[in-house]
Amino acid sequence: MLNIALPKGRLGERVYRMLKQAGYDCPELENPDRRLVFENHVAGVRYFWVKPSDVTIYVERGAADLGIAGKDILLENRPDLYELLDLRTGICRMAVAGPSGFRDSRERTLLVATKFPNIAGQYYSEQSREVELIKLNGSIEIAPILGLSDVIVDIVETGKTLKENGLVVLETVCPISARLVANPSAYRFRREEILRLVRCLSAVLPPEKPE
Ligand code: PRP
Repeated sequence: MLNIALPKGRLGERVYRMLKQAGYDCPELENPDRRLVFENHVAGVRYFWVKPSDVTIYVERGAADLGIAGKDILLENRPDLYELLDLRTGICRMAVAGPSGFRDSRERTLLVATKFPNIAGQYYSEQSREVELIKLNGSIEIAPILGLSDVIVDIVETGKTLKENGLVVLETVCPISARLVANPSAYRFRREEILRLVRCLSAVLPPEKPE
């Protein structure tokens, strides 16, 4: 059986619907209870729900053969695994945001609050911009409001959170979407099963959106 780590929440549910359409359904997963592990012997899959930021840990350590992870987590943590497919869902972007009138004068170190210090650090180092990164774990939008930082680097999906907190996107860092990832040795030893799933899933992906 293929072990597949699904991120708990809306994204995981959306991806499960795609897997179901691709022929990898699991009826017992659709009965809401508090169980976390579900099997379908006929389809040859065992799903389990994990915290989205933990998916890559399960896959990297081989507890899961496959997993669904956001590109943000892959860029931030650079786990040792294979990225097999862009699932074209969970689409959003990593962006620099701040108060609407903000202009970076480059005269002093820029204070950047973020949940993604590696992504933010690399973005600014490519621009040779000196920054101080302030790592937060959530509610990042508050940081510039309270003067903790000048700007934030965070995920923007609808833009609603920024708007409601009086912030605007200043720069786009990179596009983000959900990816199917594989443990490298599982990919080596279970290649056929995995590639079959990739083929079936590719056939039910949402259409590619123009840039
Ligand atoms: C992300 C991000 C923003 C929000 C953006 O947080 O940190 O706060 O979503 O979405 P929007 O553009 O549609 O308003 P998330 O919901 O992942 O929660 P978290 O801060 O707990 O990680």
